[in-house]
Amino acid sequence: MATSSKAQQKAGEASSGAQIAVLVIHGPNLNLLGEREPEVYGRTRLADIDKELKRLGRELEMKVETFQSNGEGAIVDRIQRALGKCDVMLINPGAYTHTSVAIRDAIAAVSVPVIEVHLSNVYRREPFRHHSTIADIAHGRIMGFGAESYTLALRAARTIAEESRRRAG
Ligand code: DQA
Repeated sequence: MATSSKAQQKAGEASSGAQIAVLVIHGPNLNLLGEREPEVYGRTRLADIDKELKRLGRELEMKVETFQSNGEGAIVDRIQRALGKCDVMLINPGAYTHTSVAIRDAIAAVSVPVIEVHLSNVYRREPFRHHSTIADIAHGRIMGFGAESYTLALRAARTIAEESRRRAG
């Protein structure tokens, strides 16, 4: 086998642990869920989404960690810290979805499979939301199901992690 990059080797380290580890990252303004444009994003609060993800994680025997920041740099720092420590990342970059090359580069650097998540179906909204800087490097994208987008993504994360552990032997 060809020598893999340091990022790929570190990414493989997460696979050696018994439990699948998933990191969930929420971007700017998602801390306001429940109050913020409820007709678009629903009435579920971020704390309740995180609670449900942790509960579902226990049911599916996965360790789920959640993180929210309004800052692009803080999100980049959190992605970098995930190297070798998680099997799959779920990320809703909020408005940074449409603008951030820095978040895209951080995801590309850590070699951890990513599921892009959105509460709303961005294609039913303004044209500036139709572009995502991470769509082509994400493993997949789930959007338009409100808070359920996250739970669907977490179920998919389990499949992705199991497949990559099988491949790694
Ligand atoms: C969002 C969609 C983005 O366009 C928006 O800026 C958000 C939330 C969503 O989850 O639907 O903040 O990512």
